[in-house]
Amino acid sequence: MPARRSSITLLALSQVAFSIAACDSPPETGASDQASVARRVEFEGATELRDENPDPGIVEVTLTAAAAEAELVPGQRTRVLAFNGSVPGPLLHARVGDRIIVHFKNDLAEPTTIHWHGLRIDSAMDGTPRVQDPIPAGGSFTYDFVVKDAGTYWYHPHATSIEQVDRGLYAPLVIEEAEPPKFDAERIIVLDDVKLDGAYQMAPYGGMTDMMMGRMGNVLLANGQSLPKAGQRVERGRIERWRLINAAGARLMQVTVEGASFRVIATDGGLLPSALTPTTVELAVGQRFDLEVLYDKADAATAGLFALVRQSTGAIRKVPLATYDLVEPEGATRPSARPVYPVIRLPAPADAPLERELRFAMTHDESGMMMMTINGQDGMTLPVENFVQERAVRFTLVNDDEMHGHPFHLHGNFFQILERDGQPANEPGLKDTVQLRPASAVTIETSFENVGDWMYHCHIVEHAENGMMAEIKVHPAPAR
Ligand code: C2O
Ligand code: CU
Repeated sequence: MPARRSSITLLALSQVAFSIAACDSPPETGASDQASVARRVEFEGATELRDENPDPGIVEVTLTAAAAEAELVPGQRTRVLAFNGSVPGPLLHARVGDRIIVHFKNDLAEPTTIHWHGLRIDSAMDGTPRVQDPIPAGGSFTYDFVVKDAGTYWYHPHATSIEQVDRGLYAPLVIEEAEPPKFDAERIIVLDDVKLDGAYQMAPYGGMTDMMMGRMGNVLLANGQSLPKAGQRVERGRIERWRLINAAGARLMQVTVEGASFRVIATDGGLLPSALTPTTVELAVGQRFDLEVLYDKADAATAGLFALVRQSTGAIRKVPLATYDLVEPEGATRPSARPVYPVIRLPAPADAPLERELRFAMTHDESGMMMMTINGQDGMTLPVENFVQERAVRFTLVNDDEMHGHPFHLHGNFFQILERDGQPANEPGLKDTVQLRPASAVTIETSFENVGDWMYHCHIVEHAENGMMAEIKVHPAPAR
């Protein structure tokens, strides 16, 4: 058994690759008025939830969570939990301002809920145990909310079980802009890792290492696939939008693009005021980044997305995730024109924000049991902290642990990252998730524009469930 296990690990590190859809961009149809009012962006290869409502302003879908099998590793059947039978689950796609109605059926053997990660919606629809009794096995619930912010999001359970998301219950959610910038193609790449045993089933849950580090997988997945789809072709000169989502349980993902140029054009809360040009992109658990990818390298034969995986030796290994064979364009239509992006203005930092400090630590109680704490105690035993809508709050998040990072996530409201360890941070954009690195501090600011009952927590589920989760309430601003 140990030998087989390590061979899986080897497989994971040497052959991990991302399968992404076929490469032909759907032709721009001279769509009817009806269609142009509806969702305009199409995604390569994504399975989209079918909109059952003819009203162009309403997206109404049916979603079921149930046990299923998935071919995560070629030729192997892995027992998973899945939305509508697939890992990741189907894309929920709407346009900014739409109303979304989800008829959800829980066919799992245990209670669940769905949380719409990153959306600023009515808190009653947020899917946390704070605002909703978990939906029992066999039960149903209708989620119904209006989406205010364009961006790349995702949805996943927020209930009772550490295992549900890890076993496969996660899916992309895209709210397109009112006037989406035009690309030759859009792709969604959902990143994950799973810990498989020698029989290609989810390894047993629990154990000290999982508890402390969060559960790290031994097989990387992109869009639920461990191996690359060979022979995908793209035309040199095309420009694409790749929406990256880190849905892993605990793995901080480092990725880069080779054989093509890329810029970061959006993050958790949508498009940035101006594009960033890093050489690698780090995605905290739960975070999203959208890339503009330009296949502009005359001498490259292939292009693709790569993960940078740190080996136990400390060396960094570049693992191909998605690769495309570059072919010469047939018509005179390449290179494509750069998309035109809307003007985005981020709110300026407030003049006199309230200031709060949240300290995250890992300690032991008297009996030697490991504990995760926020400000010295189990976050769920902290009093619910009250805030007022539009009253800016600057939180300094401090990680007192030298070993473990924490992907901090705030529900229902965006924040901006102002500083890291007291120095200005260059991480612009509206965020709902930020990586709090070991023995470091990060200062964020939110204006709490969305009233309701919200949670914040470390997105490593083992940490959240063992103390790194707390509750706040945002009250309406008093009438002026
Ligand atoms: Cu993506 Cu509270 O979670
Ligand atoms: Cu954590």
